[in-house]
Amino acid sequence: MRIGVFDSGVGGKAVAGKLQELLPDAEIISVDDYAHVPYGDRIPEDIIELTKIAIQPLLDTECDAIIIACNTATTVAISALRATFPSVNFIGIEPMIKPAAAITKSKIIAVLATPRTLQSDRYNELKQTWAKDITVIEPDCSGWAKLIEDGSSSRVQVEATIAGLLQENVDVIVLGCTHYHMIKERIVDAAGDSVTVLEPTDAIANRIKYLLA
Ligand code: DGL
Repeated sequence: MRIGVFDSGVGGKAVAGKLQELLPDAEIISVDDYAHVPYGDRIPEDIIELTKIAIQPLLDTECDAIIIACNTATTVAISALRATFPSVNFIGIEPMIKPAAAITKSKIIAVLATPRTLQSDRYNELKQTWAKDITVIEPDCSGWAKLIEDGSSSRVQVEATIAGLLQENVDVIVLGCTHYHMIKERIVDAAGDSVTVLEPTDAIANRIKYLLA
């Protein structure tokens, strides 16, 4: 099986690497859009157009499925992609609000994501559907993806941000941007044992197995 993985930048590498471990027999091909990363501050029309162009190599190699390993591109562009390329099996990655809402005991969760993801209709629909009775805190992570992309992740204000969330009694943190997978260990360490940090790679691997079975 051949799986295409797209992200604006290094987030796709984190997802592709983990998917290769979970699906050792799969051929995983990654593409990115280094010329235009980060997507998280761009307007929706640009994200849709840029994504359509960037995934072209994956469309050309006829993948069994294409993972949009970018929460920003999924929440903003996946409907347009499905409408434009109806024969392609797209699997999106979007913030794990539903599982977070299911496991939180404090009823206070946090979502770390780009500004565009947080503003998207799809994200707000997810909150309305699954987290109506839950407080969702969205700390300012603008700039994080760019720092991670530039190899300056040590400058991301992880510890201060997570300390603020702990003060608010958050017990589940959702990684809603695949770039943040690169700093997951720091986030987990800062959050401590009483907080669950959710990211979607295992769920995506299961979805691929199910879809392609
Ligand atoms: N990795 C992407 C995401 O999951 C976006 C980062 C960016 O390009 O701003 O949202």
